[in-house]
Amino acid sequence: MYEIVKKELLAPNIVRMEIRAPRTAKSCLPGQFVIVKADEQGERIPLTICDYSREAKTVTIVFQTVGTSTKLLAEYEEGEAFFDFVGPLGCSSDLLSEPQEDLKAKKLLFIAGGVGTAPVYPQVKWLHEHGILADCIIGARNQELIILEQEMKEVAGEVFVCTDDGSLGLKGNVNDCLKYLISEKGKQYDHIIAIGPLIMMKFVCLLTKELGIKTTVSMNPIMVDGTGMCGACRLTVGGETKFACVDGPEFDGHLVDFEEAMRRQQLYRTEEGRAVLREKEGSTHHGGCGYCEET
Ligand code: NAD
Ligand code: FES
Repeated sequence: MYEIVKKELLAPNIVRMEIRAPRTAKSCLPGQFVIVKADEQGERIPLTICDYSREAKTVTIVFQTVGTSTKLLAEYEEGEAFFDFVGPLGCSSDLLSEPQEDLKAKKLLFIAGGVGTAPVYPQVKWLHEHGILADCIIGARNQELIILEQEMKEVAGEVFVCTDDGSLGLKGNVNDCLKYLISEKGKQYDHIIAIGPLIMMKFVCLLTKELGIKTTVSMNPIMVDGTGMCGACRLTVGGETKFACVDGPEFDGHLVDFEEAMRRQQLYRTEEGRAVLREKEGSTHHGGCGYCEET
């Protein structure tokens, strides 16, 4: 069992929990995710790691209560425990394997959209711990939904906030903010890491392609079981079939087929849609289920 050491409401329907998970805390890295199961019957929920402490043996998760399963997670209180907490899973951020001298020479910008700010934080924190300061745009619909602004300011270079309704920071979405930084503030970036809703990542990539700035995205939103078994997170990257939970979650955003990813996400939501996908794609998963020929 995995004890909830701390629970906090960051914004309406956005919960932060610190979980005692010694094995995961010992080896997890920024960019990786965990699968949480509230009780024995609970659905498996893949969540990107938001922070970890090797000393306290804890891992921090942030989630939005959108459906039955996340609502069930949010009902748990400090001192109670989750049935299962599996991880770390997926690949760590590519930045971690780049030579640090190369990273120090680059101007890095993170674009965090809404709840996507949570998986951005450990990457910016890791860079800070290694003497690298990255800038960060945090965008949300309104002031109430801006999360982790203070935490980010402690580890980032400059933090720029924007809200769709203008209630905090620049009025506009993250792309408006990026355009403003480049045209009005004379900012230049070599590499952008964008994490947020699919639609945001798609439009950020369209803009950064025009601007000629390398862009990494996190395809966590299309994951369902996080094991390579369900096939939900299948996507095309540079013409090749990939699985976000096994080969990602991060990919070169300019090579991701967002239209297909969004179409598949819609179809995967219903039994009828899943049947359409099976008909069209055959065995849609990554293999290893023991019942198919893929391994
Ligand atoms: P949201 O819809 O409120 O959007 C957050 C911000 O993204 C907006 O304020 C805006 O600045 C930007 N944005 C949205 N659409 C845009 C567009 N078309 N063009 C430019 N910018 C745009 O976000 P939310 O409700 O907090 O996020 C929920 C989504 O985030 C869920 O779909 C969830 O799956 C996803 N998410 C993704 C990750 C990840 O790893 N990629 C992690 C956590 C959550
Ligand atoms: Fe199910 Fe990746 S989330 S195969």
